[in-house]
Amino acid sequence: MASLLKVHDLTVCYGDRTERQIRAVSGVGFDLVEGEGIGILGESGCGKTSLASAMLGLLPRGGYVLRGSAVFRGTDLLTLGEPGLQRIRGAEISLIHQEPALALNPVLRVGDQMAEILIAHRRMNSKQARNEAKKVLEQVGFSVDSNIDQAFPHQLSGGQKQRVVIAQAIACGPALVIADEPVASLDAVVQMEIINLLQSLRKRLNLALILITHTPDILVPIAQRILVMYAGRIVEQGPAHQVLEAPLHPYTQGLLKCGLDLFPRESSVRPLASIPGEPPNLAALPTGCAFAPRCSDRMEVCEARAPIELHPEKTRDVWCFKYE
Ligand SMILES: Nc1ncnc2c1ncn2[C@@H]1O[C@H](COP(=O)(O)OP(=O)(O)O)[C@@H](O)[C@H]1O
Ligand code: SF4
Ligand SMILES: [Mg+2]
Repeated sequence: MASLLKVHDLTVCYGDRTERQIRAVSGVGFDLVEGEGIGILGESGCGKTSLASAMLGLLPRGGYVLRGSAVFRGTDLLTLGEPGLQRIRGAEISLIHQEPALALNPVLRVGDQMAEILIAHRRMNSKQARNEAKKVLEQVGFSVDSNIDQAFPHQLSGGQKQRVVIAQAIACGPALVIADEPVASLDAVVQMEIINLLQSLRKRLNLALILITHTPDILVPIAQRILVMYAGRIVEQGPAHQVLEAPLHPYTQGLLKCGLDLFPRESSVRPLASIPGEPPNLAALPTGCAFAPRCSDRMEVCEARAPIELHPEKTRDVWCFKYE
């Protein structure tokens, strides 16, 4: 399958370049092929949003890419500049946020705001764009006679709003959708509806999907591969069922220790189990393994130097001295 995105050594910081930096993402690398679904799993504050934002040139004020590359279809997004990124965002790569209300314009009808995107990126005239908007809204589960295109965002439920945001994300036929905690603000039943919708669209449209979450269960229907992040680094990656059923890294084991129902009922979506100890301070990470202060498998070497990438199995990578 054709390569779509190659991220290499991506390192994202916040703060003055000369003062103490917060290193939110450290040396992250992964590949994605067309149509592939991957999950990025980790507790709040581990750098997931910074990773996604950096790739799309959307870091907040004070955030910057220290080094690395994110090559999408042969072009490094990190060196592209704002005009180039504007051509790609929404057209070739779409981002779905956690809070759908913030992604929608409150004073425009749903159909009008979708038409704006189609006019900007697909050079349609107003009538063509409105008709296309209705078709895309059908693709995300609204019936033709719902007249959803005439609604204002405040008239919609949370789940309906997120469907509209997904419709906007797929409207221009992107190759990649990055969904950053797309169901975190929804209740459990609606969460699984939205996840199943994303999965059916992924298959139907051959979309590559990066699903970012702190909730392992929602990765089950979508992710073929899972990357686990801790303190800005990937600590483990491998095929989804292997990572979820037999995690290697002590951090992943801690996250999943309650046991995962691989075929969750709609109401069983739950956040990560909590791990004893403090989350890491990204402004003062230890020399060795960042998880060492919380790790019951800790050895002397863990505090002396940072773990390197190891391959205890052919398809799996883990950054932990236990596997040396
Ligand atoms: N706007 C910001 N200014 C300063 N530091 C930030 C900002 N956003 C995020 N950070 C830092 O980056 C870390 C990672 O944040 P984030 O990427 O949002 O993590 P996640 O999405 O996994 O919750 C945070 O713990 C925080 O220290
Ligand atoms: S490297 Fe050491 S401290 Fe870090 S997770 Fe592995 S065993 Fe624990
Ligand atoms: Mg986040």
